[in-house]
Amino acid sequence: AYNERESLFIAVNFAREFFQQNLKTDEGQSIGLSYFKERGFDLATIEKFDLGYALNSWDQLLLEARKSGFEVDNLLKAGLILERENSPGHYYDRFRGRVIFPVHNLSGKAIAFGARILTQDKKQPKYINSPETAIYHKSDVLYGIYQAKQAIRQEGNCYLVEGYTDVLSMHMAGIENVVASSGTSLTESQIKLIKRFSDQVTVLYDGDEAGIKASLRGIDMLLEGGLNVKAVVFPSGEDPDSFARKSGKREFQDFLKAGQKDFIHFKIDLFAGEAAGDPIKKAEAIRQVVLSIAKIPDPIVRSVYAKESARLLAMEEEILLTELNRQLLKQQ
Ligand code: GTP
Ligand code: MN
Ligand code: MN
Ligand code: MN
Ligand code: MN
Repeated sequence: AYNERESLFIAVNFAREFFQQNLKTDEGQSIGLSYFKERGFDLATIEKFDLGYALNSWDQLLLEARKSGFEVDNLLKAGLILERENSPGHYYDRFRGRVIFPVHNLSGKAIAFGARILTQDKKQPKYINSPETAIYHKSDVLYGIYQAKQAIRQEGNCYLVEGYTDVLSMHMAGIENVVASSGTSLTESQIKLIKRFSDQVTVLYDGDEAGIKASLRGIDMLLEGGLNVKAVVFPSGEDPDSFARKSGKREFQDFLKAGQKDFIHFKIDLFAGEAAGDPIKKAEAIRQVVLSIAKIPDPIVRSVYAKESARLLAMEEEILLTELNRQLLKQQ
């Protein structure tokens, strides 16, 4: 007999294989595979990430799994099926008529799924994800970590993006050291996970208001975690996926290299920006930069950044240090 976690791994793995096989059916080819192709994902990428397709059916997975001997209780606990609200004891597939992005743990086992709708439909969420299960704790997981970990170590840097498709497009562009936070704010355990492989993170969030806000939160959390933090700003309305596809491989790589800023420059540019002559804006920029510097746990690193930002902002270092100390006291 298997323990509960083992039985969940087996059920999720069954579903992963089922979704992958579905891509080979007529429906899977004409809908799922052509969706991936339209987005520019080639077979190698589809294979590398175990992408799949959930048939447009209420219970195809449930039926197949039952035939193969899986218990309803196991499938429920794995987050694969749901009980019908109006008829208890009856179940249906959670993922239906969507393309499937399996989420892997560090050792490459599938533990959950993200599922994207194929057509714009305001009444349905764009993505449906597995619920929390005994083997899937969303806040501990980073999408793509299994496919990225070696490259993160090699490059000494981890790109952090928002979405599944950003990860895929970065791989297509030849950049493998990338993980996604999957649209939620970063957690301490995700940061610890990155730290196992690298002490630097480059934040590549979407070029929209939500993305910039999330970048600012993420940057501070990463700094608090003792990481070196860089960021690249994408043109408004673009995310790494859309931008990589527009630019092409070489151009995209160059854009990342040229556009990478230390978090201090990122924040100064964001807050002082064009209004460099505006004293109020400048004061706000200083406060914002100091807020982030105050998150850095290492006092030596902190003072290096304080010096550097005083120079960049053309500020007397003493004033900046006074504000920094005020923030540090506040944070204690
Ligand atoms: P595409 O539209 O396919 O390019 O996806 P995207 O990754 O660019 O989507 P977006 O920037 O809107 O969101 C970033 C990430 O947030 C997604 O990859 C998902 O992980 C997550 N997300 C987006 N929409 C939803 C949703 O409706 N529900 C849930 N649970 N997560 C979502
Ligand atoms: Mn495979
Ligand atoms: Mn977005
Ligand atoms: Mn996006
Ligand atoms: Mn996108």
